[in-house]
Amino acid sequence: MSNFTVRFRDGDHPDVVLPVGAALSEHLDATNSPLLFGCRTGLCGTCLVQVTGTFPPPDDEEQEMLEVFAEDDPEARLACQLRCTGDITIAPHPDAP
Ligand code: FES
Repeated sequence: MSNFTVRFRDGDHPDVVLPVGAALSEHLDATNSPLLFGCRTGLCGTCLVQVTGTFPPPDDEEQEMLEVFAEDDPEARLACQLRCTGDITIAPHPDAP
């Protein structure tokens, strides 16, 4: 299985290497990243991030949440819903609730 690298924009946390398709919420927490998670099911918005890299587009349910929390931000995603297929660069979103 191939891996991808998670880079954090804050520069304070080392990169994390994960298997392609891994759930970020199962591997990242306050000890190894600046990201926060709440419900982990795409409902609360706690994990709202700005992210660039390689991953599929949001499904309809995630898109609805993104329109509520971060309308017009093309980098906004819910980290708990991301299943990356390649390297990403990520940071908590300034509008995260
Ligand atoms: S942790 Fe609640 S939406 Fe991602």
